[in-house]
Amino acid sequence: MKKIAFYNNKGGVGKSTLAVNIAHALAKVDYKVLLIDLDSQNDCSLMLGIDRNQERKSFYDLINPHSAANIKECIIEARENLDLLPNSKYEIIEKEFNNNAMFLTTLLDEKLAGLEEMDYDYVIFDCSPSRSIINSAILFFIDYIFIPVQLEIPAIDGLATIFDYLEDLRLDFAKIKLIIPNMYDSRTNEGRENLKMLEESFAGQEIVTNPVYRRIKITEATKQGKTIFEYDEEAQKQLYPIIERVVEID
Ligand SMILES: Nc1ncnc2c1ncn2[C@@H]1O[C@H](COP(=O)(O)OP(=O)(O)OP(=O)(O)O)[C@@H](O)[C@H]1O
Ligand SMILES: [Mg+2]
Repeated sequence: MKKIAFYNNKGGVGKSTLAVNIAHALAKVDYKVLLIDLDSQNDCSLMLGIDRNQERKSFYDLINPHSAANIKECIIEARENLDLLPNSKYEIIEKEFNNNAMFLTTLLDEKLAGLEEMDYDYVIFDCSPSRSIINSAILFFIDYIFIPVQLEIPAIDGLATIFDYLEDLRLDFAKIKLIIPNMYDSRTNEGRENLKMLEESFAGQEIVTNPVYRRIKITEATKQGKTIFEYDEEAQKQLYPIIERVVEID
C-alpha cells in the first residue's frame, strides 16, 4: 500500500483536480484506491459528483477521540475500485488538535491501521494549501509527496517554502517523488520558459513530470462532478505519462 499526499502550500494549483483524476486513472487500471479528502472545501467530493451536504461520517468522525467510528464506516464507494473518505469540519479539527501534530499523527496511525487489511494499493490524500496541523500530520504519515505546480515565477519560487516546511518537520526531501507542472500553455513564451526553468531547477533528480496543459475540458469536468476519464478522451491522454510515472514508483 502506497500512501501519497498531493501537497502545495499555494492554493488553486490543481491539487484536488490531479488527486481525483490520478486516483480514478489508477482505479481504472484495476488498482484499489482510497482517496482521502482533506481539501478544506471538500473539493474531492464535489469533483466526484458526491453531494457534500449529505450527512455522512467523515475524516472528522474517524479521528475524533470521542467517536468510536472506524474507517470502514467512514468510507463510501465513489467509483469502481475508488473509495472516498469525505471531509468535514476542517477548522474544528485544527482547533481541537491545537498545535499537537504529533498527537494527530499517532491517532492517524491508529485509526488508519485498518487500511492495511483492506487491500488498498494506493491511499491518496488531497491536502489544503497551508501549514496546518492536519497537513503536518499527513506529511508524517505518507510515503510520498506529489507537488502540482503552476508555471508562474512566484509559484516556482514558492516551491522553496515547501522544502522549508519539510525541513521544519525534519522530514526527508526524498519524500517528494513528483513535481507536476499544471495548467501549461505552450503557446506563450512565458509558459515555455517557466517550464524550462522548473526542469532546470530539478535537473538530474527526475522528479518533474510532463506538463499537464490548461484545458477547458478539465475545468468543465471538475465542475460537473466527473473525472476526465468520464468526460473527454483527448484531455485524459495528458495524464497517461504521469500515471506511468506513478506506477513505476516503488
Ligand atoms: N490542467 C488544467 N486545465 C484547466 N483547468 C484546470 C487544470 N487543473 C486545474 N484546473 C482548474 O483550476 C481550478 C483549481 O484547481 P483545484 O481546485 O484542483 O486546485 P487546488 O490546488 O486543489 O486548490 P485549493 O488550494 O483551493 O484546494 C479548478 O477549477 C480546476 O478545474
Ligand atoms: Mg483543493
